[in-house]
Amino acid sequence: MTYTNIEGKEKIPELILKYEFALDILETQLNILIKEFAFLHGYNPVEHIKSRMKEEESAIQKLKQKGYSPSYHNIIKHLHDMIGIRIVCSFLSDVYEIVTLIKSSPQFKIKEEKDYIKHPKDSGYISYHLLVLVPVCLNNTVEYIEAEIQIRTIAMDFWASLDHKIQYKFSKKLPKEISEQLYQFSLDIHSLDQRMNQLNAIVKKYEEK
Ligand code: GTP
Ligand code: MG
Repeated sequence: MTYTNIEGKEKIPELILKYEFALDILETQLNILIKEFAFLHGYNPVEHIKSRMKEEESAIQKLKQKGYSPSYHNIIKHLHDMIGIRIVCSFLSDVYEIVTLIKSSPQFKIKEEKDYIKHPKDSGYISYHLLVLVPVCLNNTVEYIEAEIQIRTIAMDFWASLDHKIQYKFSKKLPKEISEQLYQFSLDIHSLDQRMNQLNAIVKKYEEK
């Protein structure tokens, strides 16, 4: 990342380093937590995990969208998802299982919590978001770096990925006929997720017998 044209650009390389450290720490902590859960319960609720640091172009674009000039301070103050981890689970109940697991683990400091499963966004977007603070030690001082954890099912991930691709094709607002269809598809997908979850609960009962 170069960030050649922004205010405070000389401080960016150190900031990027902190983000890299925070992402590494968070990824490791989450992997350990999930592995321990799978060991104790004989069941892994996670299909896959993806992590990313926001690209320069996307960071600058987001700041502009929010009405802020691209600068070092605005990145820290207004971009809460410079680093992000997505945990994709099998079933709906697994999402809440993972959320509870993270929230009850003392190593995670939760700054904010958004349940877009109970309260979907107007677009139809469904997921569970946790904004956490990751302690990073650099130059003998501890700093807390923000990170966004998105927890969702495979079905929610399917919708969000394709929605993202479709939205990308339009530089302005989505045409109404398209946004309405996407919203309806989200309802369909959520209904399938609920039915799969019920089926899984029945299967579990068979296993117990
Ligand atoms: P931001 O300004 O982006 O932070 O929006 P926000 O604070 O209203 O929402 P939040 O931080 O909870 O979620 C933002 C993230 O959720 C985005 O970066 C996307 O990854 C995801 N997201 C939110 N809405 C949508 C949507 O309509 N479609 C898709 N595909 N993803 C979404
Ligand atoms: Mg946000």
